[in-house]
Amino acid sequence: MALHPLEPLTISEVETAVALVRQQKDVGDGWRFPVVTLKEPHKNTVLAYQPGSWCDRQAFLVLLDNHTGNTYEAVVSLIQQQVISWTHLPDIQPNIMADELEDCEAAVRANPDFQSAVARRGLELDQVVVDPWAIGNFGFAEEAGQRLSRCLCYVRTTPESNFYSRAIDGLVPVVDLNTMTVLRIEDVGDVPVPPEPGEYAQQFWQDQFRQDLKPLTITQPDGPSFEIEGHQIRWQRWQMRIGFTPREGLVLYQVGYEDQGRLRSILYRASMAEMVVPYGDPRPQHFRKNAFDLGEHGVGMLANSLTNGCDCLGDIRYFDAVLTDSRGEVAVTQNAVCLHEEDFGVLWKHTDWRRDQVDVRRSRRLVLSFFTTVDNYEYGFYWYFYQDGTIQYEVKLTGILLAAALADQGKYGTLVAPEVNALNHQHFFAMRLDFDVDGCDNQVYEVNSVAEPIGPENPYGNGWYAEATLLGTEQAAQRPIDPLGGRYWKVVNPQVLNRLGQPVGFKLMPGDNVRPFAHPDAPIRKRAGFLDHHLWVTPYHPDENFPAGPYPNQHPGGDGLPKWTQGDRNLDNTDIVLWYVFGHHHIPRPEDWPVMPMAYSGFTLKPVGFFDQNPALDVPPSVPKCH
Ligand code: NI
Repeated sequence: MALHPLEPLTISEVETAVALVRQQKDVGDGWRFPVVTLKEPHKNTVLAYQPGSWCDRQAFLVLLDNHTGNTYEAVVSLIQQQVISWTHLPDIQPNIMADELEDCEAAVRANPDFQSAVARRGLELDQVVVDPWAIGNFGFAEEAGQRLSRCLCYVRTTPESNFYSRAIDGLVPVVDLNTMTVLRIEDVGDVPVPPEPGEYAQQFWQDQFRQDLKPLTITQPDGPSFEIEGHQIRWQRWQMRIGFTPREGLVLYQVGYEDQGRLRSILYRASMAEMVVPYGDPRPQHFRKNAFDLGEHGVGMLANSLTNGCDCLGDIRYFDAVLTDSRGEVAVTQNAVCLHEEDFGVLWKHTDWRRDQVDVRRSRRLVLSFFTTVDNYEYGFYWYFYQDGTIQYEVKLTGILLAAALADQGKYGTLVAPEVNALNHQHFFAMRLDFDVDGCDNQVYEVNSVAEPIGPENPYGNGWYAEATLLGTEQAAQRPIDPLGGRYWKVVNPQVLNRLGQPVGFKLMPGDNVRPFAHPDAPIRKRAGFLDHHLWVTPYHPDENFPAGPYPNQHPGGDGLPKWTQGDRNLDNTDIVLWYVFGHHHIPRPEDWPVMPMAYSGFTLKPVGFFDQNPALDVPPSVPKCH
């Protein structure tokens, strides 16, 4: 059976794509494969697709020749069995690969200068953990044109111990990742390693586990209410398709809602498209800490394999992720994406007390999620779909704080354990939301609430109203949040009206958000130019997918949204992509140590005039329990 054009690559398609590139482009053992993924067909092709009709399956690959340091992009037609495009990308460093980092750690440990720096500190080499990081780009001439990693070092007290608790602050090997040679060791002097291992793992706590937790079991005796076909999901009135890329992880496609017998489109494609975590400590061993977890690493590549009953509770269905290691070998992450339903309290309620009639409906939500581990931190990425047409996106943040040894300054962090300074930082998430509200051509409005001045029409001063302003071009659509003005943005289709004559729409309601605290002239602000605004809107373009540009690793900056929007293209009644940037502000607490209880950040998409009335009147009442 022909696969839908947006089905992720299968294992055999990945194997074929890698083999074809190897054969046809003479790709040998000295090459790495930073990316092997589905080349998504053009949107028009997908929208015109009919089940069973023909559609080429293509793979997109990024390749790195370690011998020359050259990077290439390839597109492979799996139907034609041909490499149909092969492009050399000058001055580009593709993303860092997990097994590349293992080779990097081994190279550091084998380096005699590193060994003597460890010995001078009175540490044993086999206790030392080397954690390679992206080096960034600060304009240093000696780093240009090289593929580099900058490694943070830690001590593991016992073979089972936490090590992020015990930083060897100020010992920073810098490694050429093409040759796997240590170029230099930055050594800012011996700072004592913090004394406590900060254990959190179960083997250290099992004698102290609380004893009063009784079982809580979710049972769905008739199974879940959703249906799955390949990567197509139907639940209640919702329909969507999912994908999984090494860079973004979970991707939503063609999200629609069945309303009065027809499927109405809402989003063509939605994903978190970039992430950056700038740390706030300016000292020499810390100023480079600002990870692009998507563009430099890939949250799909680092996705966890999930466990039923632990990561997710209920009647779970999982999707595997077909990925590759850096040598192009298939590496399947089993149970990468979790799909399940949750009870979410009361959906709506009213008591007609004159008649003593209570109408209450329980809310059920569909949850699509995955978790990723990026060095010390864990992120859970959650999409929620509700019966009233609401879509919610939530990032869950946990794992271990990035902590330094407390030298002479603790100003840029918090003392979280003896001699442990957890650094101030911010997590910024950039969403790419390709809205197609009842069709491709949409408009975006900003809605602010305005207090009416006191006057003849507002004599008692209580008047206020909502004012919608069309964001008609890219420059006009670069906007900050304004929680005090109740600001939201809505995407409408002026061609389609509801029964009240209003254009159908969806609004984006900001949640947790903040401004970036790095200076506008800071190198990280140039590299993550999308931080300049919370909202950006662009006309759809198939090559504009990543807000800091396609290759942020070691990139000097200026690519992505700031570059694309210089043309100030028209956004009025065209196929728009809305980009929403939200930040989670993190001044560490002692309670975040040694492992962080979950923090939450996100936003909500709500129908606004999309439906004629509350679309959840047809949710049946629950059966009362009689004991
Ligand atoms: Ni944090």
